[in-house]
Amino acid sequence: MFVQILGSAAGGGFPQWNCNCVNCAGFRSGTVRAKARTQSSIAISDDGVNWVLCNASPDIRAQLQSYSPMQPGRALRDTGISAIILMDSQIDHTTGLLSLREGCPHNVWCTDMVHEDLSTGFPLFTMLTHWNGGLNWNRIELDRSFTIPACAGLRFTPLPLRSAAPPYSPHRFDPHPGDNIGLIVEDLNTGGKLFYAPGLGKVDAPLLEIMAGSDCLLVDGTMWDDDEMQRRGVGTRTGREMGHLAQNGPGGMLEVLEQLPKQRKVLIHINNTNPILDEDSPERAELARRQIEVAYDGMSIVL
Ligand code: MLT
Ligand code: MN
Ligand code: ZN
Repeated sequence: MFVQILGSAAGGGFPQWNCNCVNCAGFRSGTVRAKARTQSSIAISDDGVNWVLCNASPDIRAQLQSYSPMQPGRALRDTGISAIILMDSQIDHTTGLLSLREGCPHNVWCTDMVHEDLSTGFPLFTMLTHWNGGLNWNRIELDRSFTIPACAGLRFTPLPLRSAAPPYSPHRFDPHPGDNIGLIVEDLNTGGKLFYAPGLGKVDAPLLEIMAGSDCLLVDGTMWDDDEMQRRGVGTRTGREMGHLAQNGPGGMLEVLEQLPKQRKVLIHINNTNPILDEDSPERAELARRQIEVAYDGMSIVL
């Protein structure tokens, strides 16, 4: 299984266009050693030709431009995107669908909850019907594995994760299972298993067991500290309020990953305020000590 990190940043990307936090300003002035990152998306393939896009980022055009295997030349108009899976209905994971309109219809896999948000508060499914039929919805049923014909060697198992629905969701303050999912992706030929969860608010015992059965964990790296937005002076919301488990502190992602000694561990969906973006920061050194990697755009993982 080939896993290509197309975008490793959280909503806003890094640097964020309007942000002058120490990371964003430091990156622009060259005083912080870091890599620029686009917004959250990965692509998965079992043959390197047909790809399942997980999330459609606002930066999709640049992401495809930077990764030639997803731009095959088999026809006058062509794409390596065979299907699209949405992990949630947030702007950073769905807005790219608008940029893919020239290639409609697309096969989109998502839960009832995500489909509802994208048919009401942010009606992408409705709007895009005007482009060659738009998006063909394939329902993701929670905890039920599915396969995608174009990538028949992969099996996807969706897991409902605790998180928050976006501001435009009809059930914004009333969380439902399926607002946000994680995925186990298994390569039926190599046996490789990926656990992917860019939005992960809580890890309970059953989930920890599932994570322990995967070879590679590609998990929520949004914030180092739960109150990081406040610490950096750019916002008031906590990671917990946004459905993101911070790395630092009691019960944080570092402690979770500590219990999983056998797996490759990679943080993704990193917010521009997170000190781990600074390659010379003590927080980044702490990750290295724990053998936790930080995803970057263009990173390839083979399982
Ligand atoms: C999230 O991951 O919590 C959202 O994408 C935040 C946002 O970009 O609005
Ligand atoms: Mn996000
Ligand atoms: Zn910033």
